[in-house]
Amino acid sequence: MCGIVGFVTHKSVMKKLMMGLQTLEYRGYDSAGVAIMQNNQIITRKAVGKLVNLANSLQLAPLDSNIAIGHTRWATHGGATENNAHPHVSSSVVVVHNGIIENFACLRDELEEQGFKFKSQTDTEVISHLIQFYYDQSQKTCSDRLKSLQQSFNRLKGAFAVVVCFSDAPTEMFAFARGSPLSFGVRNTQSQDQKVQNEYYIASDPLAFSQWVEQMCHLSDNQILHICQGPDTDSYDLYDMSLSKIQVKLEQNSLSDQFVNKGSFAHFMLKEINEQPRAILDTLAHVMSLIDQRKESLDQYFNKARETQLNLIACGTSYHACLVAKYFFEKYARISTTAELASEFLYRSPVLKGNYCFVSQSGETRDTIAAHDMVSNQYQTMAIVNVPTSQLARKANIVLTTQAGPEIGVASTKAFTSQLVVYLALCMSQISDVQTKNSFKQQLTIAATTLGEYLQFHTTEIQQLAQHLSKYKSMTYLGRGASFPIALEGALKLKEICYIHAEGYAAGELKHGPIALIDEQMPVVVFVSEENLEKIMSNVQEVLARNGKCIVVLNQACRELFDESYSSKASRINSQMESPILDQLQKLSFLVTPKVGEVGDLFFQSVVLQMLAYYTALELGVDVDQPRNLAKCVTVE
Ligand code: M6R
Repeated sequence: MCGIVGFVTHKSVMKKLMMGLQTLEYRGYDSAGVAIMQNNQIITRKAVGKLVNLANSLQLAPLDSNIAIGHTRWATHGGATENNAHPHVSSSVVVVHNGIIENFACLRDELEEQGFKFKSQTDTEVISHLIQFYYDQSQKTCSDRLKSLQQSFNRLKGAFAVVVCFSDAPTEMFAFARGSPLSFGVRNTQSQDQKVQNEYYIASDPLAFSQWVEQMCHLSDNQILHICQGPDTDSYDLYDMSLSKIQVKLEQNSLSDQFVNKGSFAHFMLKEINEQPRAILDTLAHVMSLIDQRKESLDQYFNKARETQLNLIACGTSYHACLVAKYFFEKYARISTTAELASEFLYRSPVLKGNYCFVSQSGETRDTIAAHDMVSNQYQTMAIVNVPTSQLARKANIVLTTQAGPEIGVASTKAFTSQLVVYLALCMSQISDVQTKNSFKQQLTIAATTLGEYLQFHTTEIQQLAQHLSKYKSMTYLGRGASFPIALEGALKLKEICYIHAEGYAAGELKHGPIALIDEQMPVVVFVSEENLEKIMSNVQEVLARNGKCIVVLNQACRELFDESYSSKASRINSQMESPILDQLQKLSFLVTPKVGEVGDLFFQSVVLQMLAYYTALELGVDVDQPRNLAKCVTVE
C-alpha cells in the first residue's frame, strides 16, 4: 500500500527522489518522508498529508545528499501523524517499509524490555530497532550490517519490503523483501575522468525510476540487496537468507514513461479511460496469440474445469470482471463457474474442486494472493494480471497479462475492460460453435475501434448529467445478466471517487426490497442489455411510477424499440416533472451507445459508468486520482 524508494547516485539525488515518490503516490498519500545521512547522522524530514506538503517543507529548508530513502504512506498501524510517518529511525539505523509485520506486537514488547523507546504506533518501528539490536551486538563491520539484517529478517513475519541505511555507513544501502514487490534498477554512467559511477535505484514499483535506468530486476522473496558506493568503483550484491551470494539477473528496461505522465489529460483516470480502445486491442491481440501458443495447456485446464468447476477469484473491480466472465462461461462455454471475493473465499472453509483463476490488476492484492496460496498446492492456478512481474504472476501456473499498461488512477478503468477482454477471449477459445466465436471476436474488435469515437462525441452529455448527479446523496445502479456486474462496478466507482452512497442491484431484485428507497431524491442508472430489454424496461417503469428518476444506458437498437413500445412516453414523463426548478435532472434520461452486441455493448456500458463517476467527481471537487482513504494496491488483508 505504501511506496518506498532508495536512490544511490553520485550527484544530488533529492529532486529525483521526490519525482520517484510522486510516481508512487498512488500507493498511499496519508503522509510522506525522506531520510539522508550527513556527518554520520540520520536526518529525516516528514510531512502529514499529500507529498506536496513534504515538497513545500523541503523547498523551505532543503536537504541534500547523493544517497537517500523515501516513503509515501497508506496508514495501517497508527493514524496519519508525523510520528507515524516513515522513515523510522533507531540510533544508527533508518528504514522505510511497505507491507505488514504481523508479529510486531510481541517484537515490540521484547525490544521495549531491551530498553528501546518507541516513538510511533507503527509496525515498522520494530524493524529499525530490531536491526539496531542485532547490529549493536556486533563489531559493526560491513558483514555485520548484512548479518544484522539477516537476523532481523528471520524474526519478521508477514509480507514486507524494506530499504535500510546505517548512519555509520553512509555510502551503503540495503533492501530486503518477502511477499511484497521490490525492484532494482541500474544506470551506467561515467565520470569525466572515465571512472565508472553507476546510479542505483530501489523502489516498490519500477515506474518510480524507469525513466533513468537502462537495466532492472525484481527481487525475489527472501533476498537481501547490498549497494556500496566506492571512491573508485561501485558495487551491488544480492544474497539469500544464508548470506550466500546470488547472481543478479538484470534485464533491459522496457517500461515506457508515457504511462508515468498524464500528458494533456487533467487526471490519470481520464487518460486511462481514453486509453481503453488501445488497451482492448492490444490485450485482444496478445491474449489470442497466447491462446494459440498454449492451446494444449489451456484446453487441459478448461477440460478439468468443465468436468468439475471453474472458480474465479478476485477483489473489487477485478471481482466484477469475474462476475461478467461467469455469465459468459456458463452461457456459451457451458462450464459451471463460480465467481467469489478472495476475502470471503479465504475464511469460509470452501469445498475445493475444479480449477482456479485469480484476477488482479496489481497482482499484489494480499487477499487474492492468500486465496491463491490456499489452493495452489492441490490445484492448477491461472492468473490474469496487469503487472507481469507481480507476485501473482510469479506464483500461478498459467499467466495471462492484460496489456492495459500501468494503471495509476486509484479507480480502476482500463484494467477492468482489459480483464473482460482476456476472459471473453478465453471463453471464446472454449466455444465450439464457430459462428458464436466469430461474433465474439468481431464484437470485441468493433468495440475497441469505435469506443474512441464514442468518448469523443458523448463527453458533453455525460458531463451535463454529472452536473445534476453531483447534487444527490444516494444513487442506485441496476442491470440484468452480464450488465448486473456492470451495475455493481458503476456503484463502486461512484463511492470511490465521488463519496456518494451508491448500490448496484440485479434489476430483478428491485422489488424485493430496494424499491422502498426509490423517490425523487434517488437517481437510478439502468444498464439495458438487449436480451433483457422487456424485463428491464418494466423495472424502469417501476422506478418512474414511484417518482424516481432514471438514467437509462442502452444501445441504439434498444432505444428505437423503446420508442416503439412506449411511444412518446419519454417526453410525457419528462413534462410531468414535479420540481423542475429545484432539480433539472429529468425523470427519464437516455445515454445511447452504438449497437455492437451482447459482448461489445458491455464495453460501452463500462465507459459510461466510468465517465459518469469521473465527471461527477470533478463537479464535487474530489481529487479523482487520489480519493480519500484509498490506495491503489491493497497489500494488507
Ligand atoms: O489490483 P487488484 O485488481 O487486485 O485490486 C483489487 C481492488 O482493490 C481494486 O479493484 C479496487 O476495488 C479499485 N480501487 C477499484 O477501482
